[in-house]
Amino acid sequence: MGGPLRIGVVGAGKISGQYSDTLSRLPELAITAVADLDLSRAQALAEKHPGARAVDLADLYAAPDVDAVLNLTTPAHHATVAHAALAAGKHVYGEKPQAATTADGRSITDAAAAAGLRLACAPDTVLGTGVQTARAVVESGAIGVPHAATAFMTAAGHERWHPDPEFYYQPGGGPLLDMGPYYLTSLIHLLGPVRRVSATSSRPRDERVIGSGPREGTTFPVSVDTHLTGTLEHHSGALTTMIMSFDVWAAHLPRIEMHGSEGSLAVPDPNYFGGEVELFTREAPEWTAVPPSAGYADGGRGIGLLDLADALTAGRDHRAAADVALHVLDVMETMLLSTQTGASIEVSTTCGRPAPITTLLTLPG
Ligand SMILES: NC(=O)c1ccc[n+]([C@@H]2O[C@H](COP(=O)([O-])OP(=O)(O)OC[C@H]3O[C@@H](n4cnc5c(N)ncnc54)[C@H](O)[C@@H]3O)[C@@H](O)[C@H]2O)c1
Repeated sequence: MGGPLRIGVVGAGKISGQYSDTLSRLPELAITAVADLDLSRAQALAEKHPGARAVDLADLYAAPDVDAVLNLTTPAHHATVAHAALAAGKHVYGEKPQAATTADGRSITDAAAAAGLRLACAPDTVLGTGVQTARAVVESGAIGVPHAATAFMTAAGHERWHPDPEFYYQPGGGPLLDMGPYYLTSLIHLLGPVRRVSATSSRPRDERVIGSGPREGTTFPVSVDTHLTGTLEHHSGALTTMIMSFDVWAAHLPRIEMHGSEGSLAVPDPNYFGGEVELFTREAPEWTAVPPSAGYADGGRGIGLLDLADALTAGRDHRAAADVALHVLDVMETMLLSTQTGASIEVSTTCGRPAPITTLLTLPG
């Protein structure tokens, strides 16, 4: 491919600012068009990118200077936007979760495959130094054969900082569907896919109050469970214990830890790109920081698109892979099913592990 990958952004809300910052630094990517149900948001984002214009959705899909659609809408709209973009012949990179349901995720994955187009999905934080350095340590054999992991995400609720937080508390939201993708995608990079899950959940509060922005003080209803505990059995035989919660004011819990026959590994917060990896082994029995050795050293949301652009040029698989995102969604949906039935349930999908990044990469700017 000549020139940059030309991006049409659909959804110019809260998270679009982070993508905008990252893409501004990358000559391999150029935002050419922006659409949002709220035109003023599209205009504000387009103004930050020379040559970009605010358009309505139909024009964005039809635009000849859009190669890929960056889908930053809320989860309930992910599949609709992806289908429309794929039908118009555009590659799609979407925010997580891949769709609101596994059926929708499967449908867009199939549509992309049938059209010969790329479908990619956040999170791309897993391409940062945190998870990639951890993966290099695991693959070096330093912790021996991994047999267990823990994954804890505890927060008091996104309504404290997000100006329009209702979607986090409606079907398609909740702590697992919202934050689970960071943890599960990391665990798939580190331990591989999941065979079986079980989970229980609760809803300690039926209402929440918006804590910031123009609607601060507004009460809204909660229609999904907001505290979940669960277990995952990976195909490798490793077992992961999870807590995903919007009902914890404070905790001393680590984010992700892995335990193997020869040692243990602490993996930093998978919601971020960097952070410290720490290793403890039978041979060196003290927690020791591992210098970053792999991944994007100063990544920001959008580096998954950079990887996609490179993959298109090189004719290789992109790392923010559709089969991983579909499996992550399926694992989460199956956990939610387990909370309703009380059963331990086999996960219907599986996926490959994306290729590791084996060197330290830096971005311009
Ligand atoms: N806010 C964060 O910190 C954050 C972090 C990581 C990922 N995400 C993910 O990013 C996505 C968006 O989150 P957000 O916080 O930016 O939400 P948001 O509500 O702030 O923004 C979403 C934008 O999409 C627009 N939109 C919705 N449906 C549309 C449609 N069909 N066509 C065109 N525009 C449409 C809305 O008008 C809005 O401007 C979600 O999937 C979320 O999980 C958010």
